[in-house]
Amino acid sequence: MIVSASTSQSLASSLAAALDEPLAATEYERFPDGELRASVPEFDADRAVVVCATTTSDAHLEALQLQDAVREAGANEVVTVLPYMGYARQDSAFESGQPVSARAVARALSTGTDRVLTVNPHETGVCDFFDVPCTVVDAAGRLAAPLPDLDDPVFLAPDAGARELATTVRDAYGVGSVDHFEKTRHSATEVEIEPHAADVAGRDAVLVDDIVATGSTMATAVSHLRERDAARAFVTCVHPVLADTARTRLARAGVEAVHGTDTIERAESTVSVAPAIADALAE
Ligand code: R5P
Repeated sequence: MIVSASTSQSLASSLAAALDEPLAATEYERFPDGELRASVPEFDADRAVVVCATTTSDAHLEALQLQDAVREAGANEVVTVLPYMGYARQDSAFESGQPVSARAVARALSTGTDRVLTVNPHETGVCDFFDVPCTVVDAAGRLAAPLPDLDDPVFLAPDAGARELATTVRDAYGVGSVDHFEKTRHSATEVEIEPHAADVAGRDAVLVDDIVATGSTMATAVSHLRERDAARAFVTCVHPVLADTARTRLARAGVEAVHGTDTIERAESTVSVAPAIADALAE
């Protein structure tokens, strides 16, 4: 039975359809003192697949409650799908006294599950923080699907770390070259991008990254492409966090369209990762 947290309702229903498994009814309540209670009133299955994008602190708590609720209702196997794993970018204590937040949340989530699946975490090393087996699902190839017919396309990553994602999207699209920028981040919204060798003049550009958060990285990259006379610029990402004024930032930079997946439910989530998760669950 597929059990959805409030943050992942569309993806959970797509996953239920892809797996041909029932979608559980769920209730999410908030008490006057602010406490949450997520319940699965009619849960009746041997296996529960809890789907929860942990985009907020409340979502983390919902995931723990849903894991507990299905065990209480008799589930023998609990699988937890974290389409987007919140806190995954806090994977080190960068300064003394800081927590390794990714490890803290992974340990907590491990207590209520037999297995975890997560989609394109920023660093796959976060899987080692779980005390149960953790599988990484790569959904990047699906980002090619919503792209229109492109003219002599170049697939660009904003930094070397995302180049593999750009290559995956190019391979799925079938044609085009791949390159990456060099990026230096000065603050949450201040990003410096060094253009790379690729000649982009007159060509359609597809930017690819794992996450678009404030949109600063992509907006800066698109501004460079515009200065270098690229034709159209499309932004694709696995996780469309689109925080703060990201949409305005991207629109002002001249982005043609933004496409993300439904790991985070947004208007831009035009691609479903349900088939990729269903394949990984079947392995
Ligand atoms: C970090 O390195 C990630 O891969 C993304 O590039 C980053 O999260 C994007 O953040 P923003 O949209 O705020 O520039």
